[in-house]
Amino acid sequence: MEVGIDKIGFYTSNYYLDVVDLAKARNVDPNKYLIGIGQKKQAVINPTQDAVTMAANASINFLTEQDKQDIKMIIFGTETGVDNSKSAAVYLQNLLGINKSSKAFEIKQACYGATAGLQIACDYVRLHPDDKVLVVGSDIARYGIKTPGEITQGGGAVSMLVTANPEIIAINETSTFYSEDIMDFWRPIYSRNALVDGHYSNEIYLQFFQKTYHEYLQQTGKKIDDFAALLFHLPFTKMGIKGLKSILDEDSDEYKRLLEHFENARNFNANVGNLYTGSLYLSFLSLIANDHGLKTGDLIGFFSYGSGAQGEFFSGNIKNIDNDKYRLPIENMLSKRKKLSVAEYEKIYEITLPNDNSDFEFDISDDKARFVLTGRKNGHLVYEEQSDRML
Ligand code: CAA
Repeated sequence: MEVGIDKIGFYTSNYYLDVVDLAKARNVDPNKYLIGIGQKKQAVINPTQDAVTMAANASINFLTEQDKQDIKMIIFGTETGVDNSKSAAVYLQNLLGINKSSKAFEIKQACYGATAGLQIACDYVRLHPDDKVLVVGSDIARYGIKTPGEITQGGGAVSMLVTANPEIIAINETSTFYSEDIMDFWRPIYSRNALVDGHYSNEIYLQFFQKTYHEYLQQTGKKIDDFAALLFHLPFTKMGIKGLKSILDEDSDEYKRLLEHFENARNFNANVGNLYTGSLYLSFLSLIANDHGLKTGDLIGFFSYGSGAQGEFFSGNIKNIDNDKYRLPIENMLSKRKKLSVAEYEKIYEITLPNDNSDFEFDISDDKARFVLTGRKNGHLVYEEQSDRML
């Protein structure tokens, strides 16, 4: 029996920043951001969106009433949790109307959370083939204004329905993983922004990629030319190029072939930025939406990396290809976003719920998403569904 991703959805907020504007404001050559980092636009997350609403907005368009009955587990990968105790998955269950006879929980390990969720989901469905599992990765990447990490911010959510006999990709059982206690990137409890040792984090990422990738080849007997494409966690899209170069000679045919597929796989990420645990899966979505060379049965390699640190390499075989089904809604969503000036972005960046238990109401008039965070009342986060204002 095959198990894997049957449906997939994506959401990001309605504001973005052009990285050329950011470069000019920071007195940096725009080519550093466009070529050196590999980004074009950066999602700026509206204060009326959080990890929960973004996950709900990413899921709502593909879930049928039958899916909501069949889901037995909701796994929420995030490092931008809305509560240190209650999981974002329980809020999500309620917003989406998923049946209550399900397990709902949150996973945290930096950008690796959604991969942990996907693997748990696949194992669960292998044992319970009639059940479905909803796995989401939802985050807001923040480093702070005028920091070196600023150009690698972004945010959004990817949602995946894991089932038997999946429509999109079957995930293979073998995966290779490596973890070690490393301080390359972390977000202390007291801070909204991540702390990072940037260049060190790049090095560790590549070390973990090489370890897990080579071990995968050893365990499975596969070779590089068995893969139609290699996908990477993309904190910024140049990182995938660094990954490819770390295992292949730039002049080799294999490098050129995989780079061509990678260009399709980084298209959406270059226009959204880092969404931490959702980034690898946005890259997958970008591949299936934009790559017209993919065929049924093609083997895709995935490298997942979560700072701190955890790496995992796994693979899947493409089931059905329908590029436009995935490309059109995302292009539509991205094209409707409002471009912010750097001054507007800096202002929005600081807006947040007060850091106490006080009541607070956001102005939601500029947020057309289906689900929004309207504020806090009596210590409770208040989420609202705006059925008539869907994106
Ligand atoms: N034209 C073209 N390229 C240029 C250029 C120009 N004018 N000027 C500079 N560049 C190139 C540089 O040569 C460099 O390329 P290489 O990496 O290939 O050498 C690239 O632009 C970046 O330049 P710098 O290294 O000088 O940039 P920086 O010191 O300002 O910082 C960064 C870059 C370390 C990525 C920083 O943005 C950062 O700390 N980001 C956050 C951390 C991060 O994303 N880490 C990734 C691994 S960890 C992870 O994956 C988990 C996660 O999601 C956070």
